[in-house]
Amino acid sequence: MQLKRNILIGVCGGIAAYKAANLVRLFIKANCNVKVIVTKSAQDFVTTKTLGVLSKNEVVTDFFDANANWNNHVHLAEWADVFVIAPLTANTLAKMASGVCDNVLLATYLSCKKKTIVAPAMDLEMYQHATTVSNLSKLKEFGNLVIPAQNGELASGLIGEGRMAEPEFIFEFTINYLKKNLPLFEKKVLINAGPTYEAIDPVRFIGNRSSGKMGVCIANYFAQLGANVNLVLGPSTITTISDQVNVIRVESAAEMQQACINKYDEMDIVVCSAAVADYKPKQVSESKIKKTEEHLTIELVKTADILSEMGKRKTKQVLVGFALETNNLLEYAKQKLEKKNLDLIIANSAVEAGAGFGSDTNKVTIIDKHNNLTTFELKSKELVAKDIVHAILNLNK
Ligand code: CTP
Repeated sequence: MQLKRNILIGVCGGIAAYKAANLVRLFIKANCNVKVIVTKSAQDFVTTKTLGVLSKNEVVTDFFDANANWNNHVHLAEWADVFVIAPLTANTLAKMASGVCDNVLLATYLSCKKKTIVAPAMDLEMYQHATTVSNLSKLKEFGNLVIPAQNGELASGLIGEGRMAEPEFIFEFTINYLKKNLPLFEKKVLINAGPTYEAIDPVRFIGNRSSGKMGVCIANYFAQLGANVNLVLGPSTITTISDQVNVIRVESAAEMQQACINKYDEMDIVVCSAAVADYKPKQVSESKIKKTEEHLTIELVKTADILSEMGKRKTKQVLVGFALETNNLLEYAKQKLEKKNLDLIIANSAVEAGAGFGSDTNKVTIIDKHNNLTTFELKSKELVAKDIVHAILNLNK
């Protein structure tokens, strides 16, 4: 499970503090940014060097660092997408429950508007004590999430509830919380992208210059917002596809049509950015065509128009197409929007400098079915993807 988020980890002084190192590692491996705050007593159980190297950030131990620079707890709290305190000791728990603020971890907790998730760890009797039980329920009342301590062997030798939940569990719990809170959690999205290759013979094909980059950027951004993304991708050499995206590789227009239609009915949002071949050779030669004739004529027949087919069978889907034109851009784009029964069309020029095929930038005009037009500046395809996705999301508002 990968999610590039900012994770702030608070470590308190208990034997389970050594497990915080593993927790940091799990978030780093999942591509998150991690910063760690430790209390004074936590440093008796785990070193700031270990946590610093693993998190790739200097560990915060006090309001001031070694060079007398102020560690601004408000900025730390703002930076975090979530604050995970593991292990949480009885002492810090009691302070959190009553608003005591005598160290940088507590000051950050009080400043933090994002969710705080705590994983308590203490000995059996302490965990069962009425004040602990009451403090934990206060923390829940305040809106924090508590990962209960587990049953098992404790540092004291006693067996019972009090062990901190395993780092893997805390990690999964946190990632699931973050995912559920993403704006497109559980939305199903289908994107097609790239060129298609239409075979002439076993070694030759008719293709086009599409790189697939625009569609890949759109797919990546949808995934970043938590959507369940399927990318049907024609022959493309782009390697920057998020591993959150389910990629279905195809070659011809017919394969692309099949792969898209298989998914279409269950989708919420569909974006067709592929440069699908409009024609394919009527006959594909089984063997390599030899250079015997002076002239060679290849008869072409139309391929299926995937987007039109989707427009016809549209039920709940928000359907978005692209129009790539060399002339009369907006006029042709509007015609396609209507003819293919789309909700939005992204018009881009094949001849304007920096726009269209093969480039890392694009310049688009987004048109909706009420004829509202928004023209954007030339910008990177990553940023264009954000404009497109936001325009799609605004349709539902
Ligand atoms: N499209 C498609 N299937 C095709 C051709 C195009 O799904 N066989 C989709 C493209 O993915 C794009 C939209 O239709 O979203 C418009 O593609 P474009 O190439 O601009 O236009 P065409 O419909 O092919 O018409 P023309 O080539 O005449 O401009």
